Amino acid sequence: MSITDTSDPGRSGLTGSARDFRVPAGANLLERGDGFFAWQEERRQAGYWPFSRSTETRPGTACRARDDGGNPIEGINFSSQDYLSLAAHPEIAEVATDAVKRFGVHSAGSAVLVGNTASSVALECRIADFLEMEQAVLYPTGWAAGYGVIRGLVRSADHIVMDALSHVCLQEGAGASTRNISLFRHLDLDHCRAKLAAIRAKDTQNGIMVITEGLFSMDSDTPDLAAMQELCDEFGATLMVDVAHDLGALGAEGRGHIGIQGMLGKVDLVMGSFSKTFASNGGFVATNRRTIKEYLRYYSPSTTFSNALSPVQTAVIGKAFDIVASDEGRALRETLMRNVVSLRAQFAEAGLDVYGDPSAIVCAKVGAESTARMVSRRLPTLGLLANLVEYPAVAKGAARFRLQVMAGHSEENIRHAVRAIELAVDEARIMAAVREARALAMAA
Ligand SMILES: Cc1ncc(COP(=O)(O)O)c(C=O)c1O
Repeated sequence: MSITDTSDPGRSGLTGSARDFRVPAGANLLERGDGFFAWQEERRQAGYWPFSRSTETRPGTACRARDDGGNPIEGINFSSQDYLSLAAHPEIAEVATDAVKRFGVHSAGSAVLVGNTASSVALECRIADFLEMEQAVLYPTGWAAGYGVIRGLVRSADHIVMDALSHVCLQEGAGASTRNISLFRHLDLDHCRAKLAAIRAKDTQNGIMVITEGLFSMDSDTPDLAAMQELCDEFGATLMVDVAHDLGALGAEGRGHIGIQGMLGKVDLVMGSFSKTFASNGGFVATNRRTIKEYLRYYSPSTTFSNALSPVQTAVIGKAFDIVASDEGRALRETLMRNVVSLRAQFAEAGLDVYGDPSAIVCAKVGAESTARMVSRRLPTLGLLANLVEYPAVAKGAARFRLQVMAGHSEENIRHAVRAIELAVDEARIMAAVREARALAMAA
């Protein structure tokens, strides 16, 4: 590990959050970005802006990239989401090339016009079979699927009851559909029940969608899905589960927490993304009703009025499903889980806490945003790419580094990551203490 940059840029760029600029005022919309840009620039100049990086190589386990100021960075990569390392699989590249030759490079139309291909139609069946459900509809991204399933089904008189930590695509879909939104405390089913009971005490005429995730993407934890479906049945509500992070990567057969919890085919609506395990972009919604599939196709604006997935994407995702369902897929998940367990154990040995349960998402707790930003500045110089997550993406004072583990990571990669974060956190805490002591001395 090279230690090349331990200088202290001062407190500049260590305060404030993106939340401060969410509701800018003023009559001129084109000035809306000014305050945010000034704050971002202060952080960028101080080296505290670790976002919007661009890769110069395949986003594999090691990666060369540039920060958004154009400066080169390079290192072990724990910031890309390719959990089973399928993006580098030779059969995936082969199937992509074949798809280009046969179908061309894009879909050239919405799926409700002529955007589908033989491979997208086959993929919908494949997804439904994998989840033991009857039907599936494809969406251009997972975000579009999360937003679209809610916007497609929920109307203004209906209700939404959602886990307080639900992904932003679900929150935006809810906000665009109804004002009747109740949040329940993260994973707290008693609180969810209380919300459902309160709604049904007043309204038996309108629908309720209950929203949660199979694996929460910042906390790596999971609800009791059977209990949630039972709760929904009891109150005449519809359960919708986002399986973006667990499908394909978790469980012996790769069917995520729905599989692990014996709920295949039993959850009302399942929504997912291909961008974590399935080596492509895209999303889906699965249902047991043909009527809902057809309705979503034409009333879910993020699929109806958007071009279908490209033939390259659907061919790649189909092949990824083949691998996920094979013995090779099982072996890759075992390797991934060994990596996850090792990373969590090494963080614990280094005195760094991690969130949640073992999954491909391993978040190391840092706490204060200012400390985490100092760590983020240091990590590339220690040869590590890992994503900083800070308020408002997570609670204030709960900043963390989200490491996304891949099957392809080696034990040496894992040791390197832990050493780099441990060292950077130690340095940042010392630097923060020195600054505080200086400030006290000056005030005295
Ligand atoms: C829980 C969750 N749902 C949905 C999405 C959106 O998926 P996509 O990247 O395919 O748009 C993400 C991606 O970050 C996610 O974490």
